[in-house]
Amino acid sequence: MGAGGRRVEEVRTALKAVVLVGGEGTRLRPLTETIPKPLLPLMGRPFLHFVLDHLLANGIHEAILSSPYLEEAFSQFIEDRHGDPKITWVTEPEPLGTGGAVLNALDMVDGSFFVLNGDILTDLDLQAMLASHEANSAAATISTIRVEDARPFGLVVTGENARVLEFREKPADPMPGDINAGTYLLEPEALEGFPRAVDRSIEREVFPKMIERRLGVFAFPSQAYWLDLGTPEKYLRAHFDMIEGKIGPKRFSGPVVDESARVDRRAQLGRWVVIGPRAEVMSEAEVDESVLLEGSRVGARSKVRRSILGPGARVGEGALVTSTIVAEGAEVPDGASVVDEKVRAGNS
Ligand code: GTP
Repeated sequence: MGAGGRRVEEVRTALKAVVLVGGEGTRLRPLTETIPKPLLPLMGRPFLHFVLDHLLANGIHEAILSSPYLEEAFSQFIEDRHGDPKITWVTEPEPLGTGGAVLNALDMVDGSFFVLNGDILTDLDLQAMLASHEANSAAATISTIRVEDARPFGLVVTGENARVLEFREKPADPMPGDINAGTYLLEPEALEGFPRAVDRSIEREVFPKMIERRLGVFAFPSQAYWLDLGTPEKYLRAHFDMIEGKIGPKRFSGPVVDESARVDRRAQLGRWVVIGPRAEVMSEAEVDESVLLEGSRVGARSKVRRSILGPGARVGEGALVTSTIVAEGAEVPDGASVVDEKVRAGNS
C-alpha cells in the first residue's frame, strides 16, 4: 500500500461513533425502570457490548455516549468493559432527544462520524457505508432496511442515486418500504446552525431540515440483519435469532442455560429459552419462548411462556405467566394467572 493508501487507512481508523443510549425505553417498562434498555442483557451480556463489539469489528475505536437516564448504571458498565473501543462519556443533564444528544457530543468529534441507536442489533458493514458516504460526498448518510410491512416505521423516500427526498410518516396500511435503520454517518458541518442543548429528534427534525437546506443526504440500503430491541417481543426475538444463528459470531444451542443456574431435572424447558446466572426453575415447571434474567425463579408446577422475568423476579408455585414482563424483584404469587401484563415490584 502506498503512502496515500496509508493515509486513508489512518483517517478511517480515527472515525468515532456517537452511540445513543439515553432513552427511557418506555415500551420495555417495567424492565427499563431499573435497567436502561442498552444495558438489558442479551444472552447474558449487557446489550451495549454487542454494539461496541460491532464498532470494533468495523475498525472504530472510540465511542461517545451520554444518558440523562439511569446514568450511574452506565458508569458501572464502562468500568467493567474498559479496553477497545475507548468510551468517552458526555454529560447530558436533561434529555436532549436523539438530535440534541448528537449536537451535544459534537465537540468530541473531528471529521466524519457515525451515530448509532444504542438498541439495534445488526451486522451492518460500516466500512461499506463509509465508502458509499465518501463516493457521494454526502453531508449525511442514513442506513436503510427494506421491510415488508412498514406500518410501525417512518419511510425514507429516495430518488436518483439513493438521494433522500423526504421522510414519510408511518403508513396506515401494510406496505413494503425502506425504513430508517438507526445508523448514520455525518459530517460535523452539516450540523452547523442547529442550536445545541435543545431537545430535538434527529429523524423528525434534523434530517428534514438538512434536506430543506439542500445538503446531500443519502440512503445506504443494505440487507444486513437488523432488529431494534424496542419492544418485549423484539427483545425476545433477539434471543431467538441468536439461538437460530441468524446473527452473531457465537453459536448457541437452545435452551441456553447459564452454568450457575439451577434447573430441576423434572422441569421442562423449550428450545427458545435463555436462563441467566443463578436463576432457578423448580420441579415440574415449564418454560418456553422466555428469558429469565439473573437470579429470577420459577416455582414448582408453574408455566411461563413468551415472557421476561427481570433480575431477581419470582414466580410462585402453580402460576401461569404468559406474554408478561415481571420487573426486577417483582413477584407473581402462587397459583396466579397473568396474561399480557406488566408486573411491578410491590404490585404497584
Ligand atoms: P421508547 O421510549 O420505548 O420509544 O424507547 P427509547 O427511549 O429508547 O426511544 P427510541 O427507541 O426512539 O430511541 C432510539 C435510541 O435513541 C435509543 O437507543 C435511545 O436510548 C436513544 N435516545 C432516545 N432519546 C434520547 C435522549 O434524549 N438522549 C440520548 N442520549 N439518547 C436518547
